[in-house]
Amino acid sequence: MCGIFGYTGKRKPAGILLEGLKKLEYRGYDSCGIALNTGQRLAVFKTKGPVSKLAGILRDRKIPACCCGIAHTRWATHGTPTRINAHPHLDCWKKLALVHNGIIENFAGIKKKIASEHKIKSSTDTEIIAHLIGGFLRKGLSKKRAILKTAAVLRGSFALGILFSDEPGVIWGVKKESPLMAGLGRGECFLSSDSVAMLSWTKKAVYLKDEEVARINPQGIEVFSFRGKKVFPQPVVIKQEAFSTEKGRFQHFMLKEIFEQPKVSAGILSRYAGRSEVWFGKGFLSRQAANKIRRIFIVACGTAYHAGFSSKYLFERIKGLSVEADVSSEFRYRKVDFNRNDLVIAISQSGETADTLAAVNFAKQQGCRILAVCNVENSALTRAADFVVYTLAGPEIGVASTKAFTAQMFCLYLIYLYIARARGSIVKEQETVFLAKAKKIPLLQNKILTQSLNQVRSIARQFSQYGCFLFLGRGINFPLALEGALKLKEISYIPAEGYAAGEMKHGPIALIDEYRAVVCLLSSDSLFEKMVSNMQEIKARKGKVLAITDRPSAVPKGLADKVIALPKISPEFFPLLASLPLQLFAYFVAKNLGRAIDKPRNLAKSVTVE
Ligand code: F6R
Repeated sequence: MCGIFGYTGKRKPAGILLEGLKKLEYRGYDSCGIALNTGQRLAVFKTKGPVSKLAGILRDRKIPACCCGIAHTRWATHGTPTRINAHPHLDCWKKLALVHNGIIENFAGIKKKIASEHKIKSSTDTEIIAHLIGGFLRKGLSKKRAILKTAAVLRGSFALGILFSDEPGVIWGVKKESPLMAGLGRGECFLSSDSVAMLSWTKKAVYLKDEEVARINPQGIEVFSFRGKKVFPQPVVIKQEAFSTEKGRFQHFMLKEIFEQPKVSAGILSRYAGRSEVWFGKGFLSRQAANKIRRIFIVACGTAYHAGFSSKYLFERIKGLSVEADVSSEFRYRKVDFNRNDLVIAISQSGETADTLAAVNFAKQQGCRILAVCNVENSALTRAADFVVYTLAGPEIGVASTKAFTAQMFCLYLIYLYIARARGSIVKEQETVFLAKAKKIPLLQNKILTQSLNQVRSIARQFSQYGCFLFLGRGINFPLALEGALKLKEISYIPAEGYAAGEMKHGPIALIDEYRAVVCLLSSDSLFEKMVSNMQEIKARKGKVLAITDRPSAVPKGLADKVIALPKISPEFFPLLASLPLQLFAYFVAKNLGRAIDKPRNLAKSVTVE
């Protein structure tokens, strides 16, 4: 949720820290700050607001000559977004500056204990960490001992970056359940919570493991376990992304990422789909193991949950399987008699979502096996899982998830195919036919993006004035309706609800009048006529209707105010196409309303708190 960046080396740190911070800003953007080590003291600059504001402050001030620094961009958990609560935080004696990602669960108790000895200025859980370390230093402990003793006291998740005033050129990193890595350059090193931020300078990195501490200087890195033992991690080459992390010709990351979807789909097919069968590599769920599964529990949050929910409609076609989809934050409270033949499919773009990780831990304790569908290699989710399918979507920087959503659905569809075939629920010919249809997706997605961009832009202009939206779908298009509504509300702030179309008459129909708009999703299946009836009901109450369908000619005249026509496709693949105009619609409505599209208010990219 927040971002950490650090630099030590021959170049001027401030500019590099700001550049790194800008790359991390998508993770949290309510306040930010940097601390620089001048060789004599720690200079701290902080502000409420974005990194551009911090850059302005640094431009206006005389920055002291310095040798290294740490920086942070924040998404508030403890304490409102203010300058005082922004990181870095100092100890009482200004001996150290500290930045933190994660949450300290026992901070209230610690704060109470140390409040009489330390002057605590902020309402954050982070500041107490600085005071704890400062207190141990005061008692004569070495820096390493002070950090280790502090880590032993803290409960929760934390990635820390620390500077000590009397140790020029050195940055310390500490990791527990929140990502942190060191980047190794020539005569310079970096500390980052996300490899994306370091890529402009180095591709060589050491990913810290849980319960490790790193001491970083321009020449390299030393790593210790929380027990104080030296460890020798192997540096790895950060994989070159097939997707750029720059906006390029697009005004927003969200739009760029919407346009990347055909390429993502093509990448998924080329990695996992052969001519007539799917293949997820050695070590993946064996066909015998697939045969033993009795129940599948799909768990995820937000958009990832909608992708999982949509795949439920495929998985439940497999004979002898029962399938459920749950939001992660609820799954862990369930009292089900789980066993080894239960497969939990956990879906997450970031692989760091606290609710999903908690659900996975819960399921593991119950003996279930875990299949992760995830976008980020080496993330906590992939490490916790028994099997992993990577969604290969490349870095997703826009806070509203777009390409990760279709990539998750696409991968889940291929996993369905694999399990269905392994269990003999479909025969080889059916697998081949399914794959042949799947292989058309990249081309069709491309066609939609080029053909409907202007139309969706103009429809969005007309619909931006409505104060409330319903999104309706049936069957596999019901999760898609939920996703369409989520996309619109999170970036435009217009109230929007997704509903199973059949439920409309049981309550939401009360909302319909000439000031409300309804987006109806109609694929070419037996539910088409029922959707048309729902549209009749909306029109009878003067609601505005936008229909998205691959059977435009079958929509009776006068029932839809606007129709977005999609290329004809098998109903199960409809969500992989209809997602695109839904995302574009949300994007252009938000743009018309002048919203901060890539960084909507109150949100953050990966939600690492429960
Ligand atoms: C919505 C959105 C969120 C995420 C959710 C799960 O656009 O991005 O709803 O989908 O927070 O995040 P991941 O997939 O990282 O677990």
